[in-house]
Amino acid sequence: MFENRTVLITGAAAGLGAAAAEAFAAKGATLILSDRSDKVMGVAERLGATGLIADAASLDDHKMQVAKAVEQTGHLDITINNAGIAHPPMRIEQTPEQVARMVVEVDLLGMMWALQTQIPQMQKQALERDGDGGCILNVASIAGLVGASTLGIYGAAKHGVVGLTKAAAIENARRGIRVNAICPGFTRTAMTGDLINMAPDAEAAEADMVRGVPMRRLGEQAEIVSAMLFAASPENSFMTGQTIALDGGVTAY
Ligand SMILES: NC(=O)c1ccc[n+]([C@@H]2O[C@H](COP(=O)([O-])OP(=O)(O)OC[C@H]3O[C@@H](n4cnc5c(N)ncnc54)[C@H](O)[C@@H]3O)[C@@H](O)[C@H]2O)c1
Repeated sequence: MFENRTVLITGAAAGLGAAAAEAFAAKGATLILSDRSDKVMGVAERLGATGLIADAASLDDHKMQVAKAVEQTGHLDITINNAGIAHPPMRIEQTPEQVARMVVEVDLLGMMWALQTQIPQMQKQALERDGDGGCILNVASIAGLVGASTLGIYGAAKHGVVGLTKAAAIENARRGIRVNAICPGFTRTAMTGDLINMAPDAEAAEADMVRGVPMRRLGEQAEIVSAMLFAASPENSFMTGQTIALDGGVTAY
């Protein structure tokens, strides 16, 4: 499905990014994988991809990733802007300034820099390829759709990601670029494990996480990745500016 398509995935050393890398590789994509962790090089080697050490909070690193993709393959067709961090559960008034600034730098400004560097390349491709610019998929969260108690600044940053996604979609709707976001609920990755383990009572924290989920369980990585494949599919050509919640029904309340 993704043969001859160059796909850039950020935060690809672990969790959803690494799972997405496996799935896109299996469907024939040419992969550029980045992460701030050097574990991304192992993932890239295993999948025959290009690995890059890059900080999602750095505008220069985003420029470098786009340039590498174009240098190596001639184009950049799909981006999965997935790199992100959470913070330990805490009320807004207890959140240290440094934590708040870090989350905004990575999760919100990092998305701004991703879009700012990826869109011009895709606009150029749209002109060269009869409107086929590319497709951008941002990883937000259900914390970007509804209030997330004790995840205030994370939720604020992810609401920002949803806002950027919609603005980018409208700005580029007639320029051959689709821009969408997925909004996972709590999904079984290291990020969720950290949130559980940082709580004073881990078992109670996991029970709390699923109590508000109509399906009464965490999401599995494969369930999120299948939505990424759908959103990025060339056949999904009329969907832009959307936020798809993958949350076991949480946002249906
Ligand atoms: N797991 C969940 O329950 C969940 C729910 C909603 C949204 N999300 C979002 O999904 C995305 C992936 O999360 P995950 O659960 O796979 O997390 P994870 O912690 O398992 O993996 C995140 C990856 O991103 C990388 N990363 C973090 N900060 C980075 C930076 N500044 N620059 C480059 N790489 C960086 C990490 O090194 C890691 O490899 C995040 O944007 C997260 O907010 C996750």
